[in-house]
Amino acid sequence: MENSTFTELMTKLEQRTARVVVLGLGYVGLPLATVFCEAGFRVVGIDPVEEKVNEINSGRSYVLDIPDEQVDRLVKSGLLSATTDFSALKDADAVSICVPTPLRKTGDPDLSFIVSATESLAPYLHKGMVVVLESSTYPGTTRELVLTRLCEVGGLQVGKDFFLAFSPERVDPGRKDWTTYNTPKVVGGITSACTKISAAWYGQALKTVVPVTSTEVAEMAKLLENTFRMINIGLVNELAIMCDRLGIDVWEVIEAAATKPFGFMKFTPGPGLGGHCIPIDPLYLSWKLRSLNYNARFIELASEINTNMPRFALGKIQDALNDRGKPLKGSRVLVLGVAYKPDIDDLRESPALDVIGLLRKKGAQVSYHDPYIPAISHDDWTLQSVEDLMAQVKTADCVAVITNHSSYDYPAILETASLIVDTRNALGNMGRDHPKVVRL
Ligand SMILES: NC(=O)c1ccc[n+]([C@@H]2O[C@H](COP(=O)([O-])OP(=O)(O)OC[C@H]3O[C@@H](n4cnc5c(N)ncnc54)[C@H](O)[C@@H]3O)[C@@H](O)[C@H]2O)c1
Repeated sequence: MENSTFTELMTKLEQRTARVVVLGLGYVGLPLATVFCEAGFRVVGIDPVEEKVNEINSGRSYVLDIPDEQVDRLVKSGLLSATTDFSALKDADAVSICVPTPLRKTGDPDLSFIVSATESLAPYLHKGMVVVLESSTYPGTTRELVLTRLCEVGGLQVGKDFFLAFSPERVDPGRKDWTTYNTPKVVGGITSACTKISAAWYGQALKTVVPVTSTEVAEMAKLLENTFRMINIGLVNELAIMCDRLGIDVWEVIEAAATKPFGFMKFTPGPGLGGHCIPIDPLYLSWKLRSLNYNARFIELASEINTNMPRFALGKIQDALNDRGKPLKGSRVLVLGVAYKPDIDDLRESPALDVIGLLRKKGAQVSYHDPYIPAISHDDWTLQSVEDLMAQVKTADCVAVITNHSSYDYPAILETASLIVDTRNALGNMGRDHPKVVRL
């Protein structure tokens, strides 16, 4: 198993002289690249988007969790550089693929980025190279899509000449306690040599590496994590709908249940799911299972409930205005927070987009404010974040809190607004039984 190619690569990884390439410098790739650099690896990031490459090479970051100073320091020290030129792969010893895995409009997985990144890599695959796929995807992708394309390369054998593994990315943007560096990293290879080499590489830069026996186990572990979240969010969203019918305060119910010290994990309802992971990854799994004539029922059901939450939030806004004698049509609704979760600048799949779209369809005059997202262009509409937040709060017929950014001064907003629909319990106890506040 451990031939000279293996031993030589292992030595380079352990001595951190291996040349690293990260394919895809987004929310996942850029933090990962910086972690490798901090461990002493020389890293080249390859991304087809020229603006990102220019930003990095100018010492600037476009990812909120990565400060400009860090990028600047790493670029100036010669450890980090970026390029759009895939020929940088020629000299690479270790390659991490961090490209997007979105859904197509039909709801099917869009694996075109993984395919194109692999096809860009294939001409440069050489003896003594380790490749790790990080993109979240259905079990079997690394073997079926990546390995098959790399195996077409002139006679190179996986596990002997080159090494291939899957390592799911768990980074939670905006989070300070668990980062790319200290969140344990699962790594599963095509062969045991692949697992060993990949785990050794990642183990040089990340705090804890968790080796597993195959790429499929690593792929499925990621989907279990995100499916677990998605289903539990679906459950608590349905609880919110049930409590609404029963006239019970769902937030108080959740707080009470969460006092149980074991056997319960707290999830909170909201206006819908967002982000690049939780709403999407489970659908990769159900799609794969459909091809095997199995219907992933929990996923389908939770997805249906979660997808309907923006409409539930719309109903709350409509009813709240109605109770004050105002029709939604023509009313001024100020949406507070549009990022898919608090304190980040990511709008992907954000339920705010659906809520705003639904409000507009009903004829409401919608404006929004988000400290992290200056403008939105979506479907057939564009909006800019309002400048004078409190002036808008004052004149709005309804303020709808969609994302509970921590920078908002909620007591002041409560004081100034005439009506608040709080879909995130951002106001906490201040909003409970308050005549101006309707909670989800
Ligand atoms: N964002 C998260 O919080 C998060 C967390 C865990 C896992 N993931 C997963 O990680 C993967 C990457 O997500 P992301 O959020 O970093 O996406 P992203 O869109 O922020 O970044 C992807 C980058 O890849 C680049 N790219 C596209 N095609 C490429 C190619 N052929 N070669 C090289 N680069 C290419 C894009 O230009 C972009 O800069 C996805 O599978 C996602 O599901 C994301």
